[in-house]
Amino acid sequence: MPVTVVIGSQWGDEGKGKIVDLLAPDVDIVARYQGGANAGHTIAWEDQLFVLHLIPSGIFHEGVTCVIGNGVVIDPVALMEEIRQVEALGFRVEGRLLISHNAHLIMPYHKALDKARERWRDAEAIGTTGRGIGPAYVDKFARSGIRLVDLLDREGLREKLRAALDEKNAILQSVYKDEAIDVDAMIEEYVDFDRRIDPFVTDTTNYLCQALDDGKRILAEGAQGSLLDVDFGTYPYVTSSHPTAGGCCTGLGVPPTSIDRIVGIVKAYSTRVGNGPFPTELLDDVGEHLRAEGREFGATTGRPRRCGWLDAVALRYTSRLNGFTDLAVTKLDVMAGMSELKVCTAYKIGDKTTDRFPNDIATLERVEPIYETLPGFEGDLTGIDAVEDLPANAQDYLAFMSDVIGVRTSMISTGPRREETLVV
Ligand code: GDP
Ligand code: IMO
Ligand code: MG
Repeated sequence: MPVTVVIGSQWGDEGKGKIVDLLAPDVDIVARYQGGANAGHTIAWEDQLFVLHLIPSGIFHEGVTCVIGNGVVIDPVALMEEIRQVEALGFRVEGRLLISHNAHLIMPYHKALDKARERWRDAEAIGTTGRGIGPAYVDKFARSGIRLVDLLDREGLREKLRAALDEKNAILQSVYKDEAIDVDAMIEEYVDFDRRIDPFVTDTTNYLCQALDDGKRILAEGAQGSLLDVDFGTYPYVTSSHPTAGGCCTGLGVPPTSIDRIVGIVKAYSTRVGNGPFPTELLDDVGEHLRAEGREFGATTGRPRRCGWLDAVALRYTSRLNGFTDLAVTKLDVMAGMSELKVCTAYKIGDKTTDRFPNDIATLERVEPIYETLPGFEGDLTGIDAVEDLPANAQDYLAFMSDVIGVRTSMISTGPRREETLVV
């Protein structure tokens, strides 16, 4: 089993962090391949709870090496703070965290531009996390980005930062009527990173390919979700990277043929943070109930997550895109106590019915979900460790879900903590 990829099948926050942490003891390396500190991956064990934004979710297992690949955009300030927090919990990070020398940096002007563009868009704002993700990827593809390796060359970095700020300050001031960023203060803050970040920086692609040659096992941790993919998601209400399976190869530099397992993480209902179409959204008491029971508030921004029923049309689409080999269903416990459970199996568009996910948001905004209704289940699922011991209606809901998506379920999560998981 060389490379397993864990991917969010919906709009993010499916519980990827929990599942990666659970699978980590079986692998040698856990690697993030895209996104940045827009991610918030929650890990809970014993009485501890920690939200990781950049460090891969294998860091709490001493035998695991964590890699931040070339496809990730890194805010060095956020990263250093996260390293400090993980070390404060008593975990060793140096020597266990490797960061790609080719990964691009998020600078203060990326965050300023992210916020300014959102203000500019006004009613059409994407609802980004404000972490500078979009502007950093823009610079990467415009070939004007600053990479990790640039931090290690103090003089070169000064020049690059000066040149970048000349341009960004002109845009911030004249287009967005924003304040300019102080060049010298920024340079002073960033030139100091060379010493602090040096022990972590390496050619991670070479490291990973060598690890594969040596028969090591790699777990690739996706961030965000497939419906936020810049190509396959609900554009423009998406993130600026590829959370889908292909992103793993370009974001780490591992060949597609090295991947033999692709786990789709499916929350037992749907959530979305930020703007954009959401066909099964519930703007009623049931949606409120899911938000309260599921504690659906963003792990990065604290924003309330929009909640709705499971959308099997969207899930069939993301399953096809990614080639899920198996599913991990999370938050089943949150559905306990509801009298009925609905699953959207088709969309009505005007007088037509389709089971295909439309690839334009104008259509997606008009669809009416067609639901199958299943009976609800009662009871506390804590402590149940065999599928056969789950309430019969919960088993039926899971079976229906697998059937309608067309992929087998290999893990069922019934609570935030490691132990609250059934492996099928
Ligand atoms: P990620 O971004 O996909 O890693 O997910 P987040 O960490 O943003 O959000 C998932 C939230 O649900 C976190 O607060 C987790 O602790 C929590 N969680 C994960 N699995 C379960 C589960 O099976 N049941 C419950 N009740 N909470 C869960
Ligand atoms: P994890 O990894 C949920 C959403 C934002 C916004 C859109 C674009 O924890 O699942 P961005 O800041 O990326 O430019 O914002 O994407 N978004 C997420 N939603 N979970 C995430 O990450 C997200 N990362 C970004 O809310 O709608
Ligand atoms: Mg999250």
